Amino acid sequence: MHASNTVTASLRQLATPQGFFIGAAADAQTLRDDAGYRTLLAREFNMLVAENAMKFGPLCPQPDQYDFANADTLVAFAATNGMQVRGHTLVWHQQLPQWLEHGTQTPAQVKAILKKHIQTLVGRYRGRIAMWDVVNEAFDDNGPALRDSFWLKKLGPEYLAWAFQWAHAADPAAQLVYNDFGIEGMNAKSAAALALVTRLKAAGVPIHAVGMQMHITPEMPVRLAENIARFRKAGFAVQFTEVDVQLPMPVQPAALAQQADIYRALLETAMTSGINTFVMWGFTDRHSWVPHFFKGKGAALPFDEQLQPKPAYAALHAVLTQSPSRQ
Ligand code: G3I
Repeated sequence: MHASNTVTASLRQLATPQGFFIGAAADAQTLRDDAGYRTLLAREFNMLVAENAMKFGPLCPQPDQYDFANADTLVAFAATNGMQVRGHTLVWHQQLPQWLEHGTQTPAQVKAILKKHIQTLVGRYRGRIAMWDVVNEAFDDNGPALRDSFWLKKLGPEYLAWAFQWAHAADPAAQLVYNDFGIEGMNAKSAAALALVTRLKAAGVPIHAVGMQMHITPEMPVRLAENIARFRKAGFAVQFTEVDVQLPMPVQPAALAQQADIYRALLETAMTSGINTFVMWGFTDRHSWVPHFFKGKGAALPFDEQLQPKPAYAALHAVLTQSPSRQ
């Protein structure tokens, strides 16, 4: 009997001709250590984002001392494999360097430090990073107030506009994104985020897109398509930037099927709502933040711990094969 010679197309082989970015967060050390992880990332995805390597703390453990090794590894891997890169993230309240977060700098000094950080990081990868998560998670977990973060305390709400302006000056070609979780459905937080980015844009701040992280359990965000539409109507591109669908462990077959249905619905909604960037927060359960942060949860990604495709992968593959009518 002849072995089947139909080679199944990868997600990126289906997505790229449609002008669609299907991506994943990647970890530089895992990329170095795990050949299977490396091969799968290059085969299936046309975009990657650094899970941690481009955050302020990991990059700059001491004042003016940058360690770009991990970030460079990921950017080089993307270039070698014809992948676009998302930059993540310039201004966030987590993973700050200790010398800054617990330092004694004046507000003026903190402003100068942030400006120099953005110029250094965005400048280094100018022309090689398609889009930057400039500000990440500026709202309280449940919105609608701005998070009382290190940046808000030190600089006031102006920090948002400054960050986008500095990033644009450092790389005018990069698409600049406001990224957050909990803004996927129609709720007070997404309404506040829409008002904020609309106000910044009206003031001439170079802000081009909104990233909906999409860290969810197996249920769809409320009125997702309606929410996407209102951001697009306000003039913003929308991206799904950190997709994962966490399940109760030990995982049950029925939950895997439910997860597949959610991944299918998310990708269909993206493709029929004018979204062209669908990035997952990892791609294999072998390397995911979920079990470390949510006790008793896991199995959130389309490949299992043995790098084998799960029903969620088949769902994504089917949607890209059927390529719903793109907006
Ligand atoms: O690198 C150190 C290592 O030297 C040390 O031995 C080890 C134990 O303390 O910690 C390591 O750092 C960890 C880092 O991940 C790298 O593995 C940090 O403790 C840990 O807190 C950090 O977690 C990251 C988390 O952001 C921080 O909040 C996750 O990997 C990362 O997936 C997660 O990603 C965030 C996005 O950036 C923003 N959206 C939410 C998403 C999930 O929290």
